[in-house]
Amino acid sequence: MKNALITGGNKGIGFEIARQLGLKGFDVILTARDTSKGDEAVKKLTQMNINAEFIQMDVTDINSINSAYEKVSDLFDVINVLINNAGIRTNSDRGLDIIPYDDIRRIIDTNLIGPIIVTQKFLPMLKEGSRVINISSSLGSITNGMIKYSPVYSISKTGLNAVTCQFHLMLQKKNIAVFSMCPGWVKTELGGAGAERTVEEGAATAIWLATKAPLSYSGKFIKDNKIIPW
Ligand SMILES: NC(=O)c1ccc[n+]([C@@H]2O[C@H](COP(=O)([O-])OP(=O)(O)OC[C@H]3O[C@@H](n4cnc5c(N)ncnc54)[C@H](OP(=O)(O)O)[C@@H]3O)[C@@H](O)[C@H]2O)c1
Repeated sequence: MKNALITGGNKGIGFEIARQLGLKGFDVILTARDTSKGDEAVKKLTQMNINAEFIQMDVTDINSINSAYEKVSDLFDVINVLINNAGIRTNSDRGLDIIPYDDIRRIIDTNLIGPIIVTQKFLPMLKEGSRVINISSSLGSITNGMIKYSPVYSISKTGLNAVTCQFHLMLQKKNIAVFSMCPGWVKTELGGAGAERTVEEGAATAIWLATKAPLSYSGKFIKDNKIIPW
């Protein structure tokens, strides 16, 4: 039986990844910053006959990450799939000239520093064949010209892609894969109601990376199961 730990698993793409992997027989370690939302999400998964545990984890709070690690390592010896999904965008992120300092810090903290610290903390539980999936965005692709919409969000995802490259370089000898992926523009609270894709479509690449993608795709940026430019 394999397991998957998902950050920000209580809603949106994270919850959908949890649901789909759970239906494929994975043990789901659903983490969320809010205990009541996390409990509620796990209740829904359990009603679908999915094995799921809720562990509180705020990816911007080192004490919460440390305590989540203690709880997860008591329950499991290994993490097969670690999905750094938690992410935010703010309405104030409309230009580097106007976005307030606190919002810059919050976005970078959640989308960039969070995945570094969570991956670093859970490294002892990643073993040969484990997979780390960083949910990035093509808004972070420099090759694509980094359109002006949400500049700090874009910068955070460009940084997250670099995090993927660095952990890949560190972990490839251990045969641990580290991927960046873009889910497309997805109808969630973050993506908005006008987005193009359903959560099922948005989660599809993550499911492929978690279950089928060759480990040779490690260190790459993937969308719709294909390598895309950084
Ligand atoms: N939707 C899109 O079009 C799109 C496109 C490209 C990439 N993405 C990426 O996909 C990922 C998931 O986004 P989504 O669209 O599913 O957004 P969403 O529905 O807003 O969900 C975001 C999740 O992240 C959690 N979160 C936020 N800050 C957190 C923190 N400090 N600690 C732990 N969890 C935290 C949220 O928890 P709360 O419920 O407590 O707020 C929520 O569970 C993000 O990384 C996003 O950047 C989304």
